Amino acid sequence: MSKIKVGVAGYGVIGQRLADGVALQGDMELVGIADLAPTLSIRALKEKGMPYDLYLVEGADKAKFDALNIPYKGSFEDLVSKVDIMLDSSPGGVGIKNKEIYARLGKKAVFQGGEKNSVADVFFHGYANFEKGIDADYLKLTSCNTTGLIRSVDCLDRAYGIDRVAITIIRRVADPGDYHRGLTNALQMDKAPSHQALDLMTIMPHIDATGILVHTPVTHGHIITVVAHGKQKITKEMALEAFKKHDRIRVVKIDDGFLGNASFFRYARDLGNPRGDMYEIGLWEDSIVESGDNIMYAINIPQESVTIPETMDAIRAACGMQSTRESGTAETNKYLGLGKWK
Ligand SMILES: NC(=O)c1ccc[n+]([C@@H]2O[C@H](COP(=O)([O-])OP(=O)(O)OC[C@H]3O[C@@H](n4cnc5c(N)ncnc54)[C@H](O)[C@@H]3O)[C@@H](O)[C@H]2O)c1
Repeated sequence: MSKIKVGVAGYGVIGQRLADGVALQGDMELVGIADLAPTLSIRALKEKGMPYDLYLVEGADKAKFDALNIPYKGSFEDLVSKVDIMLDSSPGGVGIKNKEIYARLGKKAVFQGGEKNSVADVFFHGYANFEKGIDADYLKLTSCNTTGLIRSVDCLDRAYGIDRVAITIIRRVADPGDYHRGLTNALQMDKAPSHQALDLMTIMPHIDATGILVHTPVTHGHIITVVAHGKQKITKEMALEAFKKHDRIRVVKIDDGFLGNASFFRYARDLGNPRGDMYEIGLWEDSIVESGDNIMYAINIPQESVTIPETMDAIRAACGMQSTRESGTAETNKYLGLGKWK
């Protein structure tokens, strides 16, 4: 089978990582990336010697790119016409406009969490509903929190059966380097139930989910606590056994130095991962507790990179590269090196 050709629209926080993720997949080819402005990420790409070809979206000021000697290969439509599938990581709400171009040129696309669900035929998660995405034209990925949350709930659900979850999300308010949220020192409540709980039910309708979200003025990862009710009683040992088998869940201990969200970010940098990216969620062994019939645990969500593996799964499903969740997720994991710490 020839390599699947992929393009990325929007080379921001998510788009840079999607491009890197595609470049790592041995059975995909990254044709190029598209953006609107010579952002710092685009300037860094130029300084790195343009490892990815750049295309300019409509409205881009070419003179600004020329002034910085940033080479571009052509227009957005040039890029879209060369690919089998587009990964759209433009700002939330822009993807629906880009979709008109994808539809006109007959190309498939995967959108990120900031778009409305109605942008896509399938609201997708590689582990929970891979089969629904097979041969679909338009998929939308779950948001960062929902992606990590579903990984852990699906893990327990497939092992033991889950019928109810209640979550608390301690949400980082901005990404490292962001200024647009200002300089803050406060926590902010969202109205319950959080969208992540509702999204989980959309993808896993057999589970009753609800939850609360608190915004926190930090940048290095969200933490979610989950209270899950099993169809059978799930003990700490049973939960741990299932989590340890999962290739996108890194089980850690506080005593080993994983004190909180920043420890994961630092560890990813020590590993030499680009930008301190981490594809896996962290799960604290010491956080797993039983409460009556419920099992409770806490996970760390590296928001900038957690959706990359499931987006690769989405390409595999939409392009019919694999026909089961097991084979699709296994290929993605192989190329991204997931589970190698075990
Ligand atoms: N940042 C996160 O932690 C995170 C996590 C999961 C999902 N998401 C979702 O990913 C999507 C992208 O978010 P982000 O944080 O990467 O945004 P971002 O602002 O960092 O990047 C968006 C990029 O798109 C470019 N752009 C602007 N207009 C464009 C257009 N018309 N066509 C193509 N590109 C255009 C911008 O110049 C910018 O480089 C959103 O849907 C968001 O909700 C973000």
